[in-house]
Amino acid sequence: MQIINQLANLRTAIAALRTNQRRVALVPTMGALHEGHLKLVREAKARADVVVVSIFVNPTQFGPNEDLAAYPRTLEADCEKLAPLDVDIVWSPSVGEMYPEGFATKVHVEGPSAGFCGGARPGHFDGVALVVTKLFNQVGADVACFGEKDFQQLAVIRQFVRDLGINIEIVGVPTMRDADGLALSSRNAYLSAEHRQAAVALPNALKAAAKAISEGEDVAAATTRATDAILAAGFSSIDYFALADAVTLAPVSEPGVRPLRLLAAARIGKTRLIDNIAV
Ligand code: PAF
Repeated sequence: MQIINQLANLRTAIAALRTNQRRVALVPTMGALHEGHLKLVREAKARADVVVVSIFVNPTQFGPNEDLAAYPRTLEADCEKLAPLDVDIVWSPSVGEMYPEGFATKVHVEGPSAGFCGGARPGHFDGVALVVTKLFNQVGADVACFGEKDFQQLAVIRQFVRDLGINIEIVGVPTMRDADGLALSSRNAYLSAEHRQAAVALPNALKAAAKAISEGEDVAAATTRATDAILAAGFSSIDYFALADAVTLAPVSEPGVRPLRLLAAARIGKTRLIDNIAV
């Protein structure tokens, strides 16, 4: 496994590996890897001959009051987790390598960026779209794997890949969950034991509401019951709990035949958790 932090070296390494039409997969991450990320790597390995994992804490997707400085940087431990999975390259550029002095380009995606986490975190998805566009260009992968846990991010990435005609297959990988159903997230580490126990109310409420809506219950009634249950379990507030079109992420009040997704973000203690489920 090569650990590379300069673009010129990345290009040389990929050119050397991409012989005989071998397929290249990319798994973009910000490090602090957990089992959810490793599942993305296994999925990438199953779909390609060469696997590149990027580890880059991307400053452009953090707002001024967000946790950029505190975000865990654990490159050595991350590489120890990746080596047994037969990863070929870890692409770990510095901020200066990714955004050299004089960098002046933005990528702004409308549609699925609006609302939900995009409303709560202005500019977040522009930063994601910018860095992911760069990663796609740097690696030149045939396929890239992203977790469905960040469902809005996945929708934004699919949108700009379509809009810009980027020649890459985007694979959404189902969320990995603890035994009780809580979605794996680096942020779960911030939960107290009591809050960790209560946090399962979020996926439980999503599951119950998805079932009720698919059985024909009124969307507003099902979401109100869900948000009441989340607050009763000990969450302090709910940023959103809403039904949306699974592609455009436009809010939906009357289910039709198109694929739908229930999306939620709620705060427990100092931690903001997100989750989603297909309807
Ligand atoms: O999901 C993440 O970890 C990040 O948003 C991503 C896709 C690696 C871009 O920085």
